[in-house]
Amino acid sequence: MSVITIIGAGSWGSGLALLLSDNQHEVRLYDVDKSVIAEINEHHTNKRYLPNGVLPESVKGYDDIECALKGTDIVLTVVPTKVIRSALKSVNQYLKHPVIFVNASKGIEPQTFKRVSEIVYEEIDKEKIIGFVALTGPSHAEEVIERQLTTVTCASDDLKLAEHVQKIFNNDDYFRVYTLNDLIGAELGGAIKNVISLAAGILTGLGYGDTAKAALITRGLAEMRRLAVKAGAKEETLFGLTGLGDLIVTATSLHSRNYQAGLKIGSGKNLQETLASIPMVVEGVRSCEACYYFAKQLNVEMPIAFAVYDVIFNKREPREVIKELMQRDLKHE
Ligand SMILES: NC(=O)c1ccc[n+]([C@@H]2O[C@H](COP(=O)([O-])OP(=O)(O)OC[C@H]3O[C@@H](n4cnc5c(N)ncnc54)[C@H](O)[C@@H]3O)[C@@H](O)[C@H]2O)c1
Repeated sequence: MSVITIIGAGSWGSGLALLLSDNQHEVRLYDVDKSVIAEINEHHTNKRYLPNGVLPESVKGYDDIECALKGTDIVLTVVPTKVIRSALKSVNQYLKHPVIFVNASKGIEPQTFKRVSEIVYEEIDKEKIIGFVALTGPSHAEEVIERQLTTVTCASDDLKLAEHVQKIFNNDDYFRVYTLNDLIGAELGGAIKNVISLAAGILTGLGYGDTAKAALITRGLAEMRRLAVKAGAKEETLFGLTGLGDLIVTATSLHSRNYQAGLKIGSGKNLQETLASIPMVVEGVRSCEACYYFAKQLNVEMPIAFAVYDVIFNKREPREVIKELMQRDLKHE
């Protein structure tokens, strides 16, 4: 049995808390929102983020980070990537011993293009890190909380550590975990797919059909692959669970906030109205900005991601942007 401190008791933090508790680990769920923690401890629910979920009584909520970290084996970060740096700063302040860091958030920092693993190594003192593992792949909290079948990947530069974490998260009944030794590919795949998910929602919101979506997913994957490989990823990673697998689910499922946000934008709502109507984090918006500047820096062509950027940040008409995409120079696939 391991002691696991989850930083962020939102949808995914709560879903993973249920899984880890099912796997007989001691689960401490920490959040800055005291009302969420009080509800978890008093009612074993988290209605704002998972309206239909019930958490096991063994999952304990913490609003005091120092207590949550005392003697823990694993720190599992599951906060929006916007706050990951500040969340890690406070972990570093109160953590007194070495632990394994596992991250389940998906995104890259817009100004620095840093992946979460890089931010962890910047913010946590070296002697407090045993190693880093990214837990990523096609997954929805709404399904994990119902113990529906899910498969994800543990990616790390240290394969032995990935295998250790694999055993902790794997559940023979409903949660299958693979390992991978391409951290760059796994982290970038998980971040960029959210941009293509926004595009899929926009297309559907505009009334386009299944063939348009199939084309978008295929060409979106080509863009993900180009950027990730230029940044150092292995090409085959993008065709696995952390790339194509995650892209399929996020570009087709109503559980995906990015897809939902795209749907609303495609149906004519502006960005502010759209984000205000979704209570959880929509990572794709920030990832789109990061992706845009990162691709420009690496000189990588990403017409779909740039089109999403134009719609969101330059407030251009989606139909006009799609017309431009269709009128690009003809080329080989
Ligand atoms: N929801 C899913 O199904 C799912 C699946 C896979 C990955 N993810 C990724 O997980 C990350 C979190 O997503 P989510 O859906 O759980 O978000 P969410 O919006 O449901 O919850 C985020 C939680 O983080 C808390 N938080 C904010 N700042 C904090 C801090 N400094 N310290 C501690 N807690 C803090 C918030 O109070 C909130 O409870 C995102 O990167 C998302 O892409 C989500």
